[in-house]
Amino acid sequence: MQLVLDYLKQNQPRFLEELCDYLRLPSVSAQEQHKADVHACAEWLVNHCISIGLEARLCTTKKHPIVVAKTPKVKSKAKRPHFMLYGHYDVQPPEPLNLWKSKPFEPRIEGRNLFARGSTDNKGQNFAHLKAVEAYLKTNTPLPCDLTFVIEGEEEVGSESLSDFLKTNRKELQCDAIVISDTGMPGPKHPALTYSLRGITAFEIKLTGPDRDLHSGLFGGAVENPATALCRLLAHVHDANGRIVIPGFYQDIVPLSKFEREEAKRYPMNDKQFLKLVGAPKLFGEKGFTPLEQRTARPTFEINGLTSGYQGEGSKTIVPSWASAKITCRLVPNQDPEYVGKRVRDFLKKKCPPTVKLEIAAGHGAEAYMVSPTGRQAQAAVRALEKAFGCKPILMREGGSIPIVNQFKKILGVDSLLLGLGLPDDNAHSPNEKFNLDCFENGQRMSAFLWDELSKM
Ligand code: BES
Ligand code: MN
Repeated sequence: MQLVLDYLKQNQPRFLEELCDYLRLPSVSAQEQHKADVHACAEWLVNHCISIGLEARLCTTKKHPIVVAKTPKVKSKAKRPHFMLYGHYDVQPPEPLNLWKSKPFEPRIEGRNLFARGSTDNKGQNFAHLKAVEAYLKTNTPLPCDLTFVIEGEEEVGSESLSDFLKTNRKELQCDAIVISDTGMPGPKHPALTYSLRGITAFEIKLTGPDRDLHSGLFGGAVENPATALCRLLAHVHDANGRIVIPGFYQDIVPLSKFEREEAKRYPMNDKQFLKLVGAPKLFGEKGFTPLEQRTARPTFEINGLTSGYQGEGSKTIVPSWASAKITCRLVPNQDPEYVGKRVRDFLKKKCPPTVKLEIAAGHGAEAYMVSPTGRQAQAAVRALEKAFGCKPILMREGGSIPIVNQFKKILGVDSLLLGLGLPDDNAHSPNEKFNLDCFENGQRMSAFLWDELSKM
């Protein structure tokens, strides 16, 4: 193991250059204009995997390719443990570009931070694992297990191709656990094992009033304004205490256990620090729950986008013909996305005034994820985190979603270990996304220790 650790230590400058090459590829999965770039990124990754000694291939799909890379076959009489590493090489769109301090696909290093779109979500994180495995292979240190990397290009747009891929490659992907670094940790010196993710249900609503935009001087006052109607409708959803009033919305939720409440007390961020992190004038959230609980263990109803009327320069006096909203609800364990989605849609239909026509289009959905943080594999991961970061990891829930983990469980029957390396101020999905280089380096060490710890059992 010392050889592996020394190799990692000695090669950080090169690793950083390589990560910058990876980050220069604008693999934006949501945008058609970047289709070729996404493909080029998958090819770069395959070549890189081969260069570090893995057997790698590019698997084309209906949309973006999946990269599969394996450690070379080892002759062994005993059955070797097999672990899958999952990550994604696709990134969120970089817009709005004017808010970036440097260009999103021209990586910039400032102190111990590396700025670029995809740096924390998720290229930097999956690259840390690749470098750990490279260290084993290049120092001829025997790995105690077989590893298969599955790095996809559609995570940010729903992972549809990967679901199909799991079904057709069930046998090859059969493994003892799936390791994922695509979540967060509370601080550079506070590693974490995430044992729960929130689920999601998405939809879009549209209210239509007059059959075209109307002159607001000539018609305003005598027709319902769809934008006003949409504001009124959406304002019904929460009460003044931030609680969602939709009947059945909170049904089936299991309260936090005593163990979870105790563990949450170790989370190293107080309300004041949290307020500073989000940069809002004052905190807000469902009464009776801490900010940490509100954003990880409680379901939400969020307006992600609101569109109506004239958005261009100057003013335009109209009653818009329509107004629309993009909405997602985050869900917690034991909530059924179908059920909650239906309750929400029924509520909106009931509250919608007859002066506008309501259309609702249901989008993607996924259940929340939960795995025991005290199981044997989880504890092995905790030991690896502790060795790498030099302090006791915290067990936590996260508010984000990785829908594919449910498919891993359903299709392969395998649990995921979520060992995130992202920091709360990494600006994932925002301008000036960054990755902390201490998290990068300690993440590599964590990965190196992990294979030993997981294979021991
Ligand atoms: N890496 C994130 C998910 C994440 C981040 C989970 C931090 C927990 C902590 C992932 O890339 C992501 O953004 N997922 C989307 C999924 C959605 C589009 C279905 C999300 O959570 O919004
Ligand atoms: Mn993301």
